[in-house]
Amino acid sequence: MNARRFVGKVMVVTGAAQGIGRGVALRAAAEGAKVLFVDRADFVAEVAAEATGADAAAFMADLETYEGAASTMDFAIKLFGRIDILVNGVGGAIRMRPYAEFEPAQIDAEIRRSLMPTLYTCHAVLPHMLAQGGGTIVNVSSNATRGIRRVPYSAAKGGVNAMTQSLAMEYGEHNIRVVAAAPGGTEAPPRRVPRNAAGDNEQEKVWMREAVTQVTESTFFKRYGTLDEQIAPILFLASDDAGYITGTVLPVAGGDNG
Ligand SMILES: NC(=O)c1ccc[n+]([C@@H]2O[C@H](COP(=O)([O-])OP(=O)(O)OC[C@H]3O[C@@H](n4cnc5c(N)ncnc54)[C@H](O)[C@@H]3O)[C@@H](O)[C@H]2O)c1
Repeated sequence: MNARRFVGKVMVVTGAAQGIGRGVALRAAAEGAKVLFVDRADFVAEVAAEATGADAAAFMADLETYEGAASTMDFAIKLFGRIDILVNGVGGAIRMRPYAEFEPAQIDAEIRRSLMPTLYTCHAVLPHMLAQGGGTIVNVSSNATRGIRRVPYSAAKGGVNAMTQSLAMEYGEHNIRVVAAAPGGTEAPPRRVPRNAAGDNEQEKVWMREAVTQVTESTFFKRYGTLDEQIAPILFLASDDAGYITGTVLPVAGGDNG
């Protein structure tokens, strides 16, 4: 890889221990960014140690709490002095089931996982971006804003899209860009941290397959995307190549626009 789009930039990536967040953080480091890998999984330090290129460090935080988000930004500022780019990778549907089958506490858990971390980190990073005269936020949304078997997750990501547009409008005059990528179903290696620690029973596996079928059939390619097909658009949005793009939610889902 020859691109060096992030030389001199400081990037904070949440959900960096695995999946899309991991890939974004490692590739940004390879392209010259100083990267803080943030996750609540302790192996995030091992992942940061894989980074080649510029400085990389790891920070453990639970971003479902405001303190987790604030301490992340404080740590990044102490370490690197500024935060040019924040990529919000934390999220992911915990359970797949018809909406009527969700228990109330399970609805709350989906919102806590896929909306609150992004709301909290955006709020916690803004004072730093305002003080330094600008910055870029890339939220990782989903095309599941229209999809079956995960209505609470759809609502959470719809919230992410709404805050992306409204924050962009509110802070554009401060030179802060806010954008989102909305991935479709993405092929990935087996997860070290499962979405649902309790695992799926036989009925839940059926509901999961129904969701996967709907997602696959909704693409024009009739296939999942690859991790690289998600990482590249996120890094484009994070880079200065996207300098006049803000408030945009970019579907990256093989023609399924969510
Ligand atoms: N993988 C897909 O098919 C797909 C499709 C559409 C959208 N997305 C979105 O892309 C993003 C990444 O998805 P993925 O499948 O690569 O991720 P993943 O589920 O494999 O990993 C998520 C990471 O976030 C961390 N995490 C979860 N909750 C956290 C918290 N409260 N505090 C700190 N860290 C926390 C986990 O430890 C894990 O390392 C998510 O926002 C997801 O909604 C993924």
